[in-house]
Amino acid sequence: MKGDIGDATLVSQIFAQEQIDTVVHFAAESHVDRSITGPAEFVQTNIFGTFNILEAAREAWLKEPSGKPSGTDCRFLHVSTDEVYGSLGETGAFQETTPYDPRSPYSASKASSDHLVSSYYHTYGLPTLITNCSNNYGPYQFPEKLIPLIINNALQGRPLPVYGDGKNVRDWLYVVDHCEAILTVLQHGKIGETYNIGGNSEKQNIEVVHTICDILDEKVGLLPGDRARRSLITYVKDRAGHDRRYAIDATKIRTNLGWHPRVNFADGMHRTVEWYLDNKAWIASVTDGSYREYYEKMYGNR
Ligand SMILES: NC(=O)c1ccc[n+]([C@@H]2O[C@H](COP(=O)([O-])OP(=O)(O)OC[C@H]3O[C@@H](n4cnc5c(N)ncnc54)[C@H](O)[C@@H]3O)[C@@H](O)[C@H]2O)c1
Repeated sequence: MKGDIGDATLVSQIFAQEQIDTVVHFAAESHVDRSITGPAEFVQTNIFGTFNILEAAREAWLKEPSGKPSGTDCRFLHVSTDEVYGSLGETGAFQETTPYDPRSPYSASKASSDHLVSSYYHTYGLPTLITNCSNNYGPYQFPEKLIPLIINNALQGRPLPVYGDGKNVRDWLYVVDHCEAILTVLQHGKIGETYNIGGNSEKQNIEVVHTICDILDEKVGLLPGDRARRSLITYVKDRAGHDRRYAIDATKIRTNLGWHPRVNFADGMHRTVEWYLDNKAWIASVTDGSYREYYEKMYGNR
């Protein structure tokens, strides 16, 4: 079913009609840049939307007569982000016990939703789990996010916008590893707990861009005039409040649940670039008029 999680009536109708015993809550406004220009949707979807699903689950799982899925067999897994923990200096890594310090409207809205989920466990006994993961990459990622945006532009010989000095660090997690981690937490995680998920692949943004350029030069050849794609790199005005570094300490999920990332950054990037090369029609279909407007607004005047 396709619908808006902001529509409380629809969400509770779905719970009433279907024997839902498991929620994996991915739905969100997810892009930090969009949260800076338009925070209202982030508050609406990420906070109120999460609240609506929590309320529907509470109603269905904790108040239903017997015969329906009972609270003890159910699971509500909330997918969240490492950005709730704020920004790191040169060293250290986020643990599940790191105090929250969100700094963008996006991360503040995700932090709020995490707190709501946690409160439903403590207050009502809703069987919740929370995962906070690092930056994902891989097939089907919308080209507003760094890696597909750079692949798309580099393929077309367009400038490659890099924020600030390009030295912001993110811990990159291949999407299939993330999915396996979510399944592991869903099946074996301890109710009421939070698990951090990281890719063990800290990279500066500029390293990520260099990697994409070099893979494309190798796979599809240099640009006209024998120019390497790195020549397209253009430093642009930094994102407001750009967090410097994120890093995940994934000891808990590794030690308690046996999960670890299986795809290293080099391998994951080759797979990702290859996927975008094989799926140009998909990129064309999602980079329509509204994407071009968004791109112009974000990067046109930097
Ligand atoms: N991409 C990352 O690197 C990353 C990192 C950490 C956490 N997360 C979290 O993972 C989840 C998925 O992120 P993503 O990167 O796939 O984002 P995405 O923007 O690609 O996907 C979000 C999905 O939510 C849906 N959605 C948005 N608003 C909705 C609404 N009001 N009602 C119903 N559906 C709605 C969208 O249609 C889309 O399918 C999000 O909760 C995000 O906060 C993502």
